[in-house]
Amino acid sequence: MNILILGSGGREHSLAWAIQQNPKCDRLIVAPGNAGIAQICECAGIDIMDGDTVATFAEENAIDFVIIGPEAPLAAGVADRLRDAGLLVFGPSKAAAALEASKSFTKAICDAANAPTAGYGHFHNADAAKAYIKAQGAPIVVKADGLAAGKGVIVAMSEAEALDAIDDMFDGSFGDAGAEVVIEEFMDGEEASFFVLCDGTNILPIGTAQDHKRVGEGDTGPNTGGMGAYSPAPVMTESVTQKAMDEIVKPCMDEMRKRGTPFEGVLFVGLMIKDGQPRLVEYNVRFGDPECQTLMMRLGGQILDLLQACAEHRLHDIKANWADDHAITIVMAANGYPGAYEKGSVIKGLDTLPADSKNMVFHAGTAEKDGAITATGGRVLAVTACGETLAEARERAYKMTKSIDWPAGFYRNDIGWRAL
Ligand code: AMP
Ligand code: GLY
Repeated sequence: MNILILGSGGREHSLAWAIQQNPKCDRLIVAPGNAGIAQICECAGIDIMDGDTVATFAEENAIDFVIIGPEAPLAAGVADRLRDAGLLVFGPSKAAAALEASKSFTKAICDAANAPTAGYGHFHNADAAKAYIKAQGAPIVVKADGLAAGKGVIVAMSEAEALDAIDDMFDGSFGDAGAEVVIEEFMDGEEASFFVLCDGTNILPIGTAQDHKRVGEGDTGPNTGGMGAYSPAPVMTESVTQKAMDEIVKPCMDEMRKRGTPFEGVLFVGLMIKDGQPRLVEYNVRFGDPECQTLMMRLGGQILDLLQACAEHRLHDIKANWADDHAITIVMAANGYPGAYEKGSVIKGLDTLPADSKNMVFHAGTAEKDGAITATGGRVLAVTACGETLAEARERAYKMTKSIDWPAGFYRNDIGWRAL
């Protein structure tokens, strides 16, 4: 089978790494990829936001299966374009990708499905939004409706902060994403991510994880795309997982199908759990990054069979085989991230590290220049390990970070603290 993965982050590196372990995988191309991905398979510098370009490329390269990593091409309808061209695709349609691309759409689906989530209001102008905030009081959560690269959510501890957020959003700081806002009740509890595959009808859970969104140790400082993760998430007990499936995921997936826009792909279910009761924080329509790196470490080559069964609508006759293991990933980011950071610094020591089924440094934002690996992004490496216990996995991953010689980068020393 010839496979094309779209994307260029640590998520796509880990997907490529796991898929390549499956004997069914003949040729693997990642577009556009990065320097780490180029070490394990072919990369192609095509514009993945352009469905026509991707369809032509897939045809020319006899691709049998396209896997779409990030949300932007999904929200732009690239999966629809590829399906129209007769390709087998993993990733939701543009209509189903609204579960990530529009917060108000997701809230409406939850209402129709009676799924537990935060109470909310949906506003198109600043005055009405401000009146709602004044009536509700703080803490309160202000969200830009559209895709805002993880920056469109302000958890406001004071009313003044929430009102300022409204001004920012309607002033255009969030571009089109802020033209509408959703204002939500603040939910207290512990967060976890739950990943399920859905083929439009059948749902298959494939793992849980916990991310570390804040840049600083002890969960302090500004929000990031994620500074580290581990899988499984201890808070996702059997009972919480069952409730999340029965009360949230199943009814929402049924609602999507009823509306004629079935969801096909991986649903990233962001939950807030309090007193054993999960409530939905958000849906994403793709794997999390860096959560994906921990899931791929644990699932290995079988992920290809799972993604293929999902794309072929046969999730009812496949199972995910879990080892009783734990994986962790530690993100190394460029100094300054999530604010302004320097690009082009050289990373040394990577070639001294193990690269096997229990230890992998996935690249998130790297390029190769004159034989050296350089940093090109904010989040640059995802140092990933697994073990029989989380403590063992963590020790192994931190040991690897010590061998990476990159003075222009940093990482959190406390990934996994909550679970340990
Ligand atoms: P989102 O982009 O929707 O995942 O939001 C980013 C982060 O904001 C989440 O991971 C939560 O930590 C936080 N958050 C979002 N909505 C709420 C809420 N209603 N109550 C408390 N925290 C929230
Ligand atoms: N790590 C969070 C995300 O991928 O959205």
